[in-house]
Amino acid sequence: MNKTILVTGGAGFIGSNFVLAWVKQGLGNVINLDKLTYAGNLDNLVSLGRDARHVFVHGDIGDRHLLDKLLAEHQPYAVVNFAAESHVDRSIHGPQDFIQTNVVGTFHLLEAVRGYWNGLDTEHKKTFRFLHVSTDEVYGSLAKDDPAFTETTQYAPNSPYSASKAASDHLVRAYHHTYGLPTLTTNCSNNYGPHHFPEKLIPLVIHNALNGKPLPIYGNGQQIRDWLYVEDHCAAIRRVLEAGKAGEVYNIGGWNEKPNIEVVRTLCRLLDRKKPRADGHSYAEQITFVEDRLGHDQRYAIDATKISRELGWKPVETFETGIEKTVDWFLQNQDWVNNVTSGEYRNWVQTHYTERGEEMA
Ligand code: NAD
Ligand code: TYD
Repeated sequence: MNKTILVTGGAGFIGSNFVLAWVKQGLGNVINLDKLTYAGNLDNLVSLGRDARHVFVHGDIGDRHLLDKLLAEHQPYAVVNFAAESHVDRSIHGPQDFIQTNVVGTFHLLEAVRGYWNGLDTEHKKTFRFLHVSTDEVYGSLAKDDPAFTETTQYAPNSPYSASKAASDHLVRAYHHTYGLPTLTTNCSNNYGPHHFPEKLIPLVIHNALNGKPLPIYGNGQQIRDWLYVEDHCAAIRRVLEAGKAGEVYNIGGWNEKPNIEVVRTLCRLLDRKKPRADGHSYAEQITFVEDRLGHDQRYAIDATKISRELGWKPVETFETGIEKTVDWFLQNQDWVNNVTSGEYRNWVQTHYTERGEEMA
């Protein structure tokens, strides 16, 4: 066995940040399996050029034949599973893809990995890891004064997205308990940073602000999310892979709870300073309150004590430093934004926000 890992979903937002850092830090070779759905984008990996340490494979985590072949050929010492359908609003419009990839796809991946792992010699069997990247949304919604989610908080997913992720987490747990597969599960809070697809709140607001479009706030904007800069999430995953105990779950979060409206006002202030509107008015004038998301979770908050105490991980960025880096990245990468906001993206925005009474396409 060599220093190769198999990453799934490595052309998406978090996966691409993970792959880039892995290769740039010289941590070994990466086989990157991605289906290239609307959310997967090879432009995210363009800075790797023709680096031989990265092998991209276009395919589906549900394709057992392909998985068997890749595992046998590349003999990875770990698999890191990012591949998923990831947008809550899309899961409300149409849950089927979420069940297919997040539940059935993860099942096929686990089956293939179990077969591969069973064939390893004793020493490699012990050191092999299957790391499943999951979300804090599986724990459901918190009231204002509830304590933050810990690894033992009861699962209570509320959206088709979070229910599908919860199902995949349970499968991973069962494969450890039943077959002894050395799994690791990470449940992380909301990420933001470079390559974030502009259907999600932060990149959507930056994109719309710069294009003179409404900044749509669902409901009253008082819902709270716990934000973590994507590179801090990737560092946490590397740490869990390196030192996490097989079969364990680690919550990852930035201790950065913010109401949505505050996040949007912060973005407007940063943009007012860095790229003022031609008319001198604030971008905050574009804020528009729209119809709420169905079943909208009120608050997420992660208690990251375990990963900090046991593995010594802590985020490097505060919300203030991370959000400024993010705005700078989007201002400097308008070509990337223009490429991903054509075609399918326009259809999504048209359908989703027209229902909320906003013309944004
Ligand atoms: P994303 O939607 O940006 O990227 C998902 C990637 O998976 C895309 O490249 C897509 O092409 C690929 N993919 C989808 N279906 C596939 C399939 N069947 N086979 C192979 N590849 C497939 O998502 P993201 O925001 O980067 O999230 C990555 C993971 O992290 C997900 O599992 C998500 O649940 C989890 N997560 C995300 C956040 C967040 O804030 N974005 C927070 C916590 C956890
Ligand atoms: P999102 O980025 O979709 O992440 P998640 O739903 O996984 O937390 O949304 C973050 C928060 O922002 C969530 O409370 C919903 C809200 N939101 C809006 O108010 N307007 C929008 O247009 C979007 C996409 C999200």
